[in-house]
Amino acid sequence: MINEKAISKIILSGEHSVVYGKPAIALPVFGSKSSVKIFDNSEKSGFIIKAPQLEKTFYLNEKKDIYNPIELTVINFLNNNEISLKQNIIIEIFSEIPIASGMGSGASISSALIKVLARFFNIPLSKKELYTQVFEIEKIYHGNPSGVDPTVIIYKKPLYFIKGKTPEFITKKTEPNYCLAIIDSKIRSSTIEVVNLVKQKREANTLKYDRLFDEIEMITEKIKSAFCNSDIVNFGLLMNENQIKLKEIGVSNDNLDSIITLSKKFGSLGSKISGAGLGGVLISLIEKEKIDFFRNSFIINGLNVTFTLL
Ligand code: MEV
Repeated sequence: MINEKAISKIILSGEHSVVYGKPAIALPVFGSKSSVKIFDNSEKSGFIIKAPQLEKTFYLNEKKDIYNPIELTVINFLNNNEISLKQNIIIEIFSEIPIASGMGSGASISSALIKVLARFFNIPLSKKELYTQVFEIEKIYHGNPSGVDPTVIIYKKPLYFIKGKTPEFITKKTEPNYCLAIIDSKIRSSTIEVVNLVKQKREANTLKYDRLFDEIEMITEKIKSAFCNSDIVNFGLLMNENQIKLKEIGVSNDNLDSIITLSKKFGSLGSKISGAGLGGVLISLIEKEKIDFFRNSFIINGLNVTFTLL
């Protein structure tokens, strides 16, 4: 049996505007991962992919008109490497990453799947090749992805990302006493739908949207510098500024706004949605000392919080 894992991610700044060529900053999240196992099917009942959390089992030997992105990931890999589908193999997928939450669960599962297949079939796989294959599947999940999700998930480093350019890895001067809380709004939100919604809104009001994307670009540049200099106070203020712009774009809602209000009440220096929005996770800048208080305060309000290093 072979097992491969892949991490998740959050976006510090620049979601949506990154689809239109503006920069984004993303951080790896090591605390929640997807995991894929592959082994011989001793019952000799064909090539099967089990995804119990999705309540799905895929039988790859059956011909279909439409394939799920998980099936396509495997089929593409096998076809690209001229490996026959007619095999007795079982793949099992598990994930700690909430689905449709903005944490890149799709890119993480594709990445773990391709890594496990490459090891099982002894196919050399560079990070660049892995990215190309994951990005193909991201197009099915996201429609018009920028590529920021697979990049941060594969390279596992904080990065400054512009679509189509080589990512710039960024580092902090010092380790701050602050971390990021990841609050799950429990509202599931489909990235492809939200990205399409923003596209339609931009088509209806291009001037307004391009101005907003320009403003977010300036915030992203300042967040990059605050991150690298461990300038926590400005970092928090800029997260709040970014959230105001995301609200103007139309990807926040009353539910998410009230989580942001709670977050500030519980001591956060800055909060914003992370990822496509209209649901999913929010991130809040929190003093490490206040982690327990912050988590418990949200538990009382029925919401789960995890934490990740800045
Ligand atoms: C999704 O994590 C971030 C978006 O900007 C989409 C993308 O960049 O592909 C909303």
